[in-house]
Amino acid sequence: METISNPQELQNLCLMLRSEGKKISLVPTMGYFHEGHLSLMDAARKQCDVLIVSLFVNPTQFGENEDLEAYPHDLGRDSLLAEEHGVDILFTPVRDDMYFDDHGTWVEVPDLASNLCGQSRPIHFRGVATVVTKLFMTAQPHVALFGQKDWQQLAIIKRIVRDLNIPVDVQGHEIVREESGLAMSSRNVYLTEEEKSVAPNIQKGLQKMRAQVAAGESDVAKLKSDLIEFYAETVPMGKIDYIEIVHPDNINILKSVGDSALCAVALQLGNARLIDNLLIKV
Ligand code: PAF
Repeated sequence: METISNPQELQNLCLMLRSEGKKISLVPTMGYFHEGHLSLMDAARKQCDVLIVSLFVNPTQFGENEDLEAYPHDLGRDSLLAEEHGVDILFTPVRDDMYFDDHGTWVEVPDLASNLCGQSRPIHFRGVATVVTKLFMTAQPHVALFGQKDWQQLAIIKRIVRDLNIPVDVQGHEIVREESGLAMSSRNVYLTEEEKSVAPNIQKGLQKMRAQVAAGESDVAKLKSDLIEFYAETVPMGKIDYIEIVHPDNINILKSVGDSALCAVALQLGNARLIDNLLIKV
């Protein structure tokens, strides 16, 4: 495995690889790998000649009072795991490699970024959209893989690729969960034992909502208030940021569950802001 931190060097290499007919996959990450990241690497490995994983804690997607400084990192451990999972190139730029001091070009998708996480993290998706576009331009991938835990992020990236004609196949992969049902996240390390013991109820609540929908309930107000009640009982120290039922593609908030609906939640549990989602109607 080769480690590259200079974007120009990576881009030159990738342009050369493409001209030789090599198929490139990219897994963009912020590091501190867990099974979710590793399963994306495994899925990517199967469909390419060259597997690139980017590891960059992108400062532009963190708001002022968020956890940029505290974000967990362990480059040594991540490098070993990447190598074990067949990564060819680990791209590890630092801030100055990725952003000029007077960086002023942003990619934004306001239609999809204004609700859910965009409400409480107003600059988040602008940062994500911009860095992912930069990663696409740098690594020139044929395929890029993302986890569905960040469903809104994935919808935004798919929209960018469509709207800007970027020649990359964006794939969303299923959420990888702990045995308890808790969605894997690098931020789970912030949880205390007590918080960790109640956190799986986030997913249990979503499953309960899906069962209600299967039994015929379609009123979003009722489904939401039942879930709020469930979380009040089972995750009492959790502070709900949002619970919304949206259309999975355009992220529009629904009043009634139609043919296709996704329930997305964000909860602050101690120091961890946890998100999860479930397709409640497909
Ligand atoms: O999902 C993430 O880890 C990040 O938002 C991403 C896509 C790597 C962009 O920084």
